Amino acid sequence: MKIIVTGGAGFIGGNFVHYMLEEYPQDKIVCLDKLTYAGSLETLESVMDNPNFKFVKGDIADRPFVYKLFEEEKPDVIINFAAESHVDRSITDPDVFLQTNIMGTAVLLDACRKYGITRFHQVSTDEVYGDLPLDRPDMFFTEETPIHTSSPYSASKASSDLLVLAYHRTYKLPVTISRCSNNYGPYQFPEKLIPLMIANALNDKPLPIYNKGENVRDWLYVRDHCVAIDLIVRKGTVGEVYNIGGHNERTNLEVVKTILKELGKSEDLITFVTDRPGHDRRYAIDPTKINRELGWEPTTLFDEGIKMTIKWYLDNKSWLDNIISGEYQNYYEKMYGNR
Ligand code: NAD
Ligand code: TYD
Repeated sequence: MKIIVTGGAGFIGGNFVHYMLEEYPQDKIVCLDKLTYAGSLETLESVMDNPNFKFVKGDIADRPFVYKLFEEEKPDVIINFAAESHVDRSITDPDVFLQTNIMGTAVLLDACRKYGITRFHQVSTDEVYGDLPLDRPDMFFTEETPIHTSSPYSASKASSDLLVLAYHRTYKLPVTISRCSNNYGPYQFPEKLIPLMIANALNDKPLPIYNKGENVRDWLYVRDHCVAIDLIVRKGTVGEVYNIGGHNERTNLEVVKTILKELGKSEDLITFVTDRPGHDRRYAIDPTKINRELGWEPTTLFDEGIKMTIKWYLDNKSWLDNIISGEYQNYYEKMYGNR
């Protein structure tokens, strides 16, 4: 089987490439990635020489380029991780989110129609469901929860989900969609909560928590997400949406305190800053469908996964330092300078 993994130089796509090459030595992986600020070839360094792996730099929204790639590679399966993925960036600059997340997905879908594939899998997010109230711990997102987006990021992801489902209904394209909760683990860009807090704590910088830190996220260790996507692509029902997540809810304040404790740093580093506009209160997944139909359940609990993640960042300090030393400083100043 030949699989095109888009966005494989990013966090989840990169972990997926490593997972697939380890698990399926007979399959071929072609990684298509634009190498935006969020993509790093260092994430793929250890597989670059693998004969079953090929890296191609390019934009999923570049139609002639994508068609040529499909013509040359003749892939069986496309798994679309490529996206602009950070909510705060989507608030300051929505345009690129529409271009990559919507137009890029449309181009990939058209290429699949034109050249024929056995599966197009869209890696989506639970953020398409909007948020849940903090005082209703009995409520969860199911696949039937209405789409109700809050940020330009989630609106762009929901739009691409709708396109994917329309291509199934109208053109019978064999698609699946997964909607996962917040991931954490190795290779995550330090603009997202967990690696940002680890990076700041290691450098004794203030840890900026939005508002009072009461917002809740349902954390999933990235390898569990990779296993779930693999299962859906191989055994999931075409045309279906699967939620992925596993009852590992924490407030942001709890997450940050756990990181400080693990690193032996003082809670005095915590700084409460102005809230994110439109900030979603709580995300929580009901994973009944993927559990019942495909037998998937998360294997890594948060308390164990966060230790593994912190250890990875400590053991791979150069990966983090290389990012923090570049353009990241300008981003950080722009986002947090006057907050
Ligand atoms: P990321 O930002 O770490 O990586 C995105 C990758 O896509 C980068 O390598 C980037 O270079 C590449 N890319 C961006 N625009 C591109 C384009 N136009 N053409 C080709 N490549 C392009 O993102 P991530 O956190 O790994 O998320 C991957 C996917 O999973 C996204 O679709 C995201 O919406 C979804 N998702 C993420 C989470 C999470 O917690 N991070 C949770 C659920 C779903
Ligand atoms: P993030 O990692 O950006 O993921 P998402 O917003 O897509 O869930 O943020 C996770 C939570 O952490 C979210 O409630 C916002 C909060 N947060 C902070 O409090 N401070 C920060 O510096 C960041 C990046 C996030």
